[in-house]
Amino acid sequence: MTLDTFPGLTSPRLKIRRFDDADVSAFLAYRNDAEVARFQSWNCCSEEEARQFIEEMKTLPCGEPGKGLQLAIEMTDTSALIGDCYLEVDSREPRQAEIGFTLARPYQKQGFATEAIAAVVGYAFQELDMHRIVGRADCRNIASAALMERLGMRREGYHLQSYWFKGEWTDEYLYAILKDEWLKKNRGAT
Ligand SMILES: CC(C)(COP(=O)(O)OP(=O)(O)OC[C@H]1O[C@@H](n2cnc3c(N)ncnc32)[C@H](O)[C@@H]1OP(=O)(O)O)[C@@H](O)C(=O)NCCC(=O)NCCS
Repeated sequence: MTLDTFPGLTSPRLKIRRFDDADVSAFLAYRNDAEVARFQSWNCCSEEEARQFIEEMKTLPCGEPGKGLQLAIEMTDTSALIGDCYLEVDSREPRQAEIGFTLARPYQKQGFATEAIAAVVGYAFQELDMHRIVGRADCRNIASAALMERLGMRREGYHLQSYWFKGEWTDEYLYAILKDEWLKKNRGAT
Protein backbone atom coordinates (compact mmCIF):
# COMPACT_ATOMS: atom_id res chain seq x y z
CA MET A 1 0.00 0.00 0.00
CA THR A 2 1.37 3.43 -0.89
CA LEU A 3 0.49 6.62 0.91
CA ASP A 4 1.70 9.79 -0.79
CA THR A 5 1.23 11.82 2.34
CA PHE A 6 2.63 11.39 5.80
CA PRO A 7 0.26 12.72 8.46
CA GLY A 8 2.83 13.30 11.20
CA LEU A 9 2.79 11.32 14.44
CA THR A 10 2.78 12.31 18.08
CA SER A 11 3.90 10.56 21.24
CA PRO A 12 3.87 11.90 24.80
CA ARG A 13 7.03 14.03 24.36
CA LEU A 14 7.67 14.00 20.62
CA LYS A 15 6.49 14.81 17.12
CA ILE A 16 7.54 12.68 14.15
CA ARG A 17 7.30 14.88 11.10
CA ARG A 18 8.86 15.56 7.72
CA PHE A 19 12.16 17.40 7.63
CA ASP A 20 12.11 21.15 7.07
CA ASP A 21 14.70 23.78 5.98
CA ALA A 22 14.95 25.01 9.58
CA ASP A 23 16.42 21.60 10.58
CA VAL A 24 19.71 22.06 8.70
CA SER A 25 21.97 23.16 11.56
CA ALA A 26 20.71 20.63 14.14
CA PHE A 27 20.86 17.87 11.49
CA LEU A 28 24.45 18.82 10.57
CA ALA A 29 25.48 18.79 14.24
CA TYR A 30 24.55 15.13 14.83
CA ARG A 31 25.46 13.91 11.34
CA ASN A 32 28.98 15.23 11.93
CA ASP A 33 29.35 13.69 15.38
CA ALA A 34 31.81 10.79 14.96
CA GLU A 35 30.27 8.87 17.86
CA VAL A 36 26.78 9.08 16.36
CA ALA A 37 28.16 8.08 12.94
CA ARG A 38 30.21 5.13 14.21
CA PHE A 39 27.75 2.41 13.16
CA GLN A 40 26.00 4.35 10.41
CA SER A 41 26.57 4.17 6.65
CA TRP A 42 27.73 7.81 6.68
CA ASN A 43 30.71 9.52 8.33
CA CYS A 44 29.98 13.21 7.89
CA CYS A 45 27.73 15.57 5.99
CA SER A 46 28.29 18.95 4.31
CA GLU A 47 25.74 21.76 4.44
CA GLU A 48 24.98 21.25 0.74
CA GLU A 49 24.38 17.52 1.28
CA ALA A 50 22.14 18.29 4.26
CA ARG A 51 20.05 20.74 2.23
CA GLN A 52 19.71 18.25 -0.66
CA PHE A 53 18.74 15.47 1.76
CA ILE A 54 16.10 17.63 3.45
CA GLU A 55 14.69 18.74 0.10
CA GLU A 56 14.33 15.11 -0.98
CA MET A 57 12.75 14.00 2.30
CA LYS A 58 10.17 16.81 2.19
CA THR A 59 8.23 15.09 -0.57
CA LEU A 60 9.40 11.46 -0.79
CA PRO A 61 6.27 9.29 -0.66
CA CYS A 62 5.73 7.41 2.57
CA GLY A 63 5.23 3.69 2.24
CA GLU A 64 6.36 3.38 -1.38
CA PRO A 65 8.35 0.14 -1.75
CA GLY A 66 12.07 0.66 -2.10
CA LYS A 67 11.95 4.36 -1.14
CA GLY A 68 13.51 4.84 2.29
CA LEU A 69 11.93 7.80 4.06
CA GLN A 70 13.80 9.58 6.83
CA LEU A 71 11.56 11.44 9.28
CA ALA A 72 12.52 14.11 11.78
CA ILE A 73 12.07 13.59 15.53
CA GLU A 74 11.16 16.83 17.31
CA MET A 75 10.77 17.47 21.02
CA THR A 76 7.31 18.89 21.57
CA ASP A 77 8.13 21.29 24.41
CA THR A 78 11.24 22.92 22.86
CA SER A 79 10.65 22.21 19.13
CA ALA A 80 14.28 20.99 18.96
CA LEU A 81 15.22 18.47 16.26
CA ILE A 82 16.70 15.61 18.29
CA GLY A 83 17.26 12.97 15.61
CA ASP A 84 15.56 11.00 12.89
CA CYS A 85 14.03 7.67 12.06
CA TYR A 86 13.87 5.67 8.89
CA LEU A 87 11.18 3.57 7.28
CA GLU A 88 11.62 1.62 4.06
CA VAL A 89 9.04 -0.76 2.65
CA ASP A 90 10.69 -3.76 1.00
CA SER A 91 10.51 -3.61 -2.80
CA ARG A 92 10.11 -7.42 -3.14
CA GLU A 93 7.86 -7.98 -0.10
CA PRO A 94 5.71 -4.82 0.09
CA ARG A 95 4.11 -5.79 3.41
CA GLN A 96 7.49 -5.85 5.10
CA ALA A 97 9.52 -2.83 6.12
CA GLU A 98 12.83 -1.91 7.70
CA ILE A 99 13.33 0.69 10.40
CA GLY A 100 16.37 2.76 11.36
CA PHE A 101 17.08 5.44 13.97
CA THR A 102 19.51 8.12 15.09
CA LEU A 103 19.49 10.43 18.10
CA ALA A 104 21.78 13.40 18.70
CA ARG A 105 24.00 12.59 21.69
CA PRO A 106 22.49 15.09 24.16
CA TYR A 107 19.12 13.36 23.71
CA GLN A 108 20.25 9.75 24.12
CA LYS A 109 19.47 7.63 27.20
CA GLN A 110 16.19 9.39 28.00
CA GLY A 111 13.80 7.04 26.26
CA PHE A 112 13.22 9.29 23.23
CA ALA A 113 14.27 6.69 20.63
CA THR A 114 11.99 4.05 22.13
CA GLU A 115 9.10 6.53 22.13
CA ALA A 116 9.72 7.72 18.56
CA ILE A 117 10.29 4.31 17.00
CA ALA A 118 7.28 2.84 18.79
CA ALA A 119 5.16 5.54 17.12
CA VAL A 120 6.64 4.79 13.69
CA VAL A 121 6.30 1.01 14.06
CA GLY A 122 2.70 1.41 15.25
CA TYR A 123 1.97 3.62 12.23
CA ALA A 124 3.60 1.13 9.85
CA PHE A 125 1.53 -1.76 11.20
CA GLN A 126 -1.77 0.03 11.66
CA GLU A 127 -1.86 2.55 8.80
CA LEU A 128 0.46 0.99 6.20
CA ASP A 129 -0.72 -2.55 7.08
CA MET A 130 2.75 -4.01 7.30
CA HIS A 131 2.97 -7.69 8.21
CA ARG A 132 6.57 -7.74 9.51
CA ILE A 133 9.11 -5.10 10.44
CA VAL A 134 12.84 -5.69 10.63
CA GLY A 135 15.85 -3.79 11.92
CA ARG A 136 19.56 -4.45 11.57
CA ALA A 137 22.41 -3.54 13.87
CA ASP A 138 26.17 -3.92 13.89
CA CYS A 139 26.71 -6.47 16.70
CA ARG A 140 28.91 -3.94 18.52
CA ASN A 141 26.06 -1.41 18.58
CA ILE A 142 24.69 -2.36 21.98
CA ALA A 143 22.35 0.66 22.22
CA SER A 144 20.72 -0.20 18.91
CA ALA A 145 20.18 -3.87 19.79
CA ALA A 146 18.82 -2.87 23.23
CA LEU A 147 16.39 -0.43 21.62
CA MET A 148 14.97 -3.11 19.32
CA GLU A 149 14.64 -5.51 22.25
CA ARG A 150 12.80 -2.84 24.27
CA LEU A 151 10.40 -2.51 21.35
CA GLY A 152 9.67 -6.23 21.58
CA MET A 153 11.60 -7.19 18.46
CA ARG A 154 13.10 -10.66 18.34
CA ARG A 155 16.73 -11.31 17.47
CA GLU A 156 16.32 -13.64 14.49
CA GLY A 157 19.74 -13.62 12.99
CA TYR A 158 23.41 -13.27 13.71
CA HIS A 159 25.13 -12.75 10.40
CA LEU A 160 28.84 -13.38 10.70
CA GLN A 161 31.01 -10.93 8.73
CA SER A 162 28.04 -10.31 6.44
CA TYR A 163 29.00 -6.89 5.10
CA TRP A 164 32.04 -4.75 4.43
CA PHE A 165 31.72 -1.72 6.66
CA LYS A 166 34.18 1.12 7.18
CA GLY A 167 37.20 -0.99 6.27
CA GLU A 168 36.33 -4.34 7.88
CA TRP A 169 34.02 -7.34 7.60
CA THR A 170 31.26 -6.76 10.11
CA ASP A 171 28.85 -8.99 12.07
CA GLU A 172 25.21 -7.96 12.06
CA TYR A 173 22.09 -8.79 14.08
CA LEU A 174 18.74 -9.05 12.40
CA TYR A 175 15.70 -8.19 14.53
CA ALA A 176 12.04 -8.57 13.57
CA ILE A 177 8.50 -8.32 14.86
CA LEU A 178 5.20 -9.39 13.31
CA LYS A 179 2.06 -7.26 13.27
CA ASP A 180 0.18 -9.75 15.47
CA GLU A 181 2.98 -9.68 18.04
CA TRP A 182 3.06 -5.88 18.05
CA LEU A 183 -0.72 -5.58 18.48
CA LYS A 184 -0.70 -8.13 21.30
CA LYS A 185 2.15 -6.33 23.07
CA ASN A 186 0.57 -2.90 22.66
CA ARG A 187 -3.08 -3.80 23.21
CA GLY A 188 -4.69 -0.91 25.04
CA ALA A 189 -1.77 1.42 24.37
CA THR A 190 -3.44 3.35 21.53
C1 LIG B 1 20.53 3.67 18.74
C2 LIG B 1 20.09 4.87 19.57
C3 LIG B 1 19.00 5.65 18.82
C4 LIG B 1 19.52 4.35 20.90
O1 LIG B 1 19.28 5.46 21.74
P1 LIG B 1 19.06 5.29 23.32
O2 LIG B 1 19.18 6.64 23.90
O3 LIG B 1 19.90 4.20 23.86
O4 LIG B 1 17.55 4.76 23.44
P2 LIG B 1 16.32 5.53 24.11
O5 LIG B 1 16.26 6.92 23.64
O6 LIG B 1 15.15 4.68 23.90
O7 LIG B 1 16.72 5.58 25.66
C5 LIG B 1 16.69 4.39 26.44
C6 LIG B 1 17.54 4.59 27.67
O8 LIG B 1 17.09 5.74 28.37
C7 LIG B 1 16.81 5.39 29.73
N1 LIG B 1 15.77 6.35 30.20
C8 LIG B 1 16.04 7.43 30.96
N2 LIG B 1 14.93 8.14 31.16
C9 LIG B 1 13.93 7.50 30.52
C10 LIG B 1 12.54 7.74 30.37
N3 LIG B 1 11.95 8.82 30.91
N4 LIG B 1 11.80 6.87 29.64
C11 LIG B 1 12.37 5.78 29.09
N5 LIG B 1 13.69 5.50 29.20
C12 LIG B 1 14.47 6.36 29.90
C13 LIG B 1 16.44 3.93 29.66
O9 LIG B 1 16.61 3.29 30.90
C14 LIG B 1 17.46 3.42 28.64
O10 LIG B 1 18.72 3.33 29.25
P3 LIG B 1 19.61 1.99 29.15
O11 LIG B 1 19.91 1.77 27.68
O12 LIG B 1 20.81 2.31 29.93
O13 LIG B 1 18.77 0.90 29.70
C15 LIG B 1 21.29 5.81 19.88
O14 LIG B 1 22.26 5.08 20.59
C16 LIG B 1 21.93 6.40 18.63
O15 LIG B 1 21.39 7.32 18.02
N6 LIG B 1 23.10 5.90 18.25
C17 LIG B 1 23.83 6.46 17.13
C18 LIG B 1 23.19 6.13 15.81
C19 LIG B 1 23.05 4.62 15.61
O16 LIG B 1 24.00 3.88 15.82
N7 LIG B 1 21.87 4.21 15.13
C20 LIG B 1 21.56 2.82 14.92
C21 LIG B 1 22.12 2.30 13.68
S1 LIG B 1 21.62 0.59 13.49
